[in-house]
Amino acid sequence: MKKSIKLKARFWRNTLLISTSLLLLVLGCRKDVQIPDSSTSISFNIPQGWPTPFYNFDNNKLTNAGFILGRKLFYETKLSVDNTISCGSCHQSFAAFANLDHPLSHGINNQFGNRNAPTLFNLNWNTSFMWDGGINHLEIQPLAPMQNPVEMGEKIGNIVTKLNNDADYKQLFNDAFGTSEVSSEYILKALAQFMGVMVSSNSKYDQYMRKESGVSFTSSELAGMDIFQQKCASCHPAPLFTDYTFRNAGLQPGSLNDSGRAHITLDPNDLYKFRVPTLRNLKYSIPYTHDGRYNTLDQVLDQMATGIFDGTTLDPLMKTGIQLTAQQRSDLLNFLNTLNDESFIKDKRFQEQQ
Ligand code: HEC
Ligand code: HEC
Repeated sequence: MKKSIKLKARFWRNTLLISTSLLLLVLGCRKDVQIPDSSTSISFNIPQGWPTPFYNFDNNKLTNAGFILGRKLFYETKLSVDNTISCGSCHQSFAAFANLDHPLSHGINNQFGNRNAPTLFNLNWNTSFMWDGGINHLEIQPLAPMQNPVEMGEKIGNIVTKLNNDADYKQLFNDAFGTSEVSSEYILKALAQFMGVMVSSNSKYDQYMRKESGVSFTSSELAGMDIFQQKCASCHPAPLFTDYTFRNAGLQPGSLNDSGRAHITLDPNDLYKFRVPTLRNLKYSIPYTHDGRYNTLDQVLDQMATGIFDGTTLDPLMKTGIQLTAQQRSDLLNFLNTLNDESFIKDKRFQEQQ
């Protein structure tokens, strides 16, 4: 009797030892799978002097593992119906996450959408998403491209199934959310963690505003900042360089006759109004405007100077257009150039991991 108890105890102790070491082994291995770049430490900080963001991580706790999963999903072609297109196909890191050289977005089966892919950064401050503000939450936003027939064309249920059949993903979901059961909720939360951390706040302009040592503006940049304050800042105010309102800036409706904000509100007063885009990182996000009709900033400025289309919803600030002398234009362009943030473009944390 006694002996058997002793044996039993030893059996359990050994089992415990074995299973603990197995667990440690598993954890040890997991570490490699789990954190490809364990040096990455993910955090979200509000840049000095910026307003409180609209989206915070209160209901979606930001973690390294969540960010890493979000990044993998962002570059995952399985999110599309024929496994060919990822979010990153249309939102390229080197283009400030817009789509270089693509006036209109380009999805599965070589189909084209009807709008230019916007830049993706500082999204936590967005009060709405899309050129027409049709979506109002960062965690809901990715459902639109996933299910859009000309973008990724896939059902969220199928995406969940595909990822549930992938052991690597089950592991990553477990690391991020404590369950290896892939769900649409956690797909969306992980994508929001990845996108929400993409903050661009280290342009020359930012460094200048922070009075960093050795950073100064040329007299042309200073003159350009002055012109910007007078002519542009009412719609494109610092530090985000958009006020997130919907306005008709006087672009002639294109061949697609995109109705803009009215597409959502069905209000004729909103016809041809588009959300004011940020002016950060313009160097990388060519082409410009909701349908990508302009390839250069000079073309944008030409339109404002002489090409205002006077429709009924034209913004009052644009009624007479914005005319600048050649000197003013060159100063303004020099100022806009200070809004480019190379460190953001080069930030490896946001790029596809090989
Ligand atoms: C086929 C190209 C394409 C793909 C794929 C794509 N997008 Fe987009 N994305 C766009 C276009 C075009 C818009 C603007 C649509 C509009 O305004 O109607 C957009 C808008 C957005 C916005 C709104 C940004 C803002 O400031 O309003 C976010 C965020 C975004 N996409 C994230 C994603 C994510 C996440 C994925 C992957 C799940 C994804 N996109 C896949 C083309 C694409
Ligand atoms: C009345 C508000 C308003 C004013 C003033 C204004 N803009 Fe804009 N801007 C807009 C809107 C709205 C758009 C989007 C237009 C579209 O796509 O249909 C836009 C688009 C742009 C774009 C294209 C950006 C992109 O990523 O596609 C640039 C560049 C730009 N504006 C620069 C300027 C400059 C420089 C000034 C001052 C000289 C200025 N804007 C003044 C409202 C304004």
